[in-house]
Amino acid sequence: MERRSMMKWLVRCIGLATAAMVGIPALIAGISPVWMYRPRRNVWRSIGPLDDFPIGEMRKIIVSLPEEEWGRALREKAVYAWRPSAEEAVVYSRSCTDLGCPLTFDPGSQCFFCPCHGGIFDKNGKRMAGPPNRPMYRFAIRIAGGEIEIDLNSVPPMA
Ligand code: FES
Repeated sequence: MERRSMMKWLVRCIGLATAAMVGIPALIAGISPVWMYRPRRNVWRSIGPLDDFPIGEMRKIIVSLPEEEWGRALREKAVYAWRPSAEEAVVYSRSCTDLGCPLTFDPGSQCFFCPCHGGIFDKNGKRMAGPPNRPMYRFAIRIAGGEIEIDLNSVPPMA
């Protein structure tokens, strides 16, 4: 084999190997969400009997988390719940929608305050001030056997 044709062959091989090294991972990254996506199943947890929530009063509730879903490190989650009327119940994640700091409810002002960057939400979860650009995370709820249940998977994983 001539030196010139051997060099052409070598350059083509290197080009092909480089294209494969770049192209194959890019192709996998591009199409993997299609087969990796699995809808999250509902994980319902009771936060207590409906009658334990007086109408108009915000309550902070600690919910125990199923170990198989959240691992050993996280056993509990705090949520805020209230009933605007006899027919309605609302449950919020305690996590701020900016960067996830824990919100505190102030009964005097009827607002949630974030200690990190000054985010403020009203009792309906609507953003009032600060950097958050969306309302508070709100759990899907259902009433089962007289208890309020929330779907832990109805808010983002770290909320
Ligand atoms: S984390 Fe709440 S305002 Fe930034």
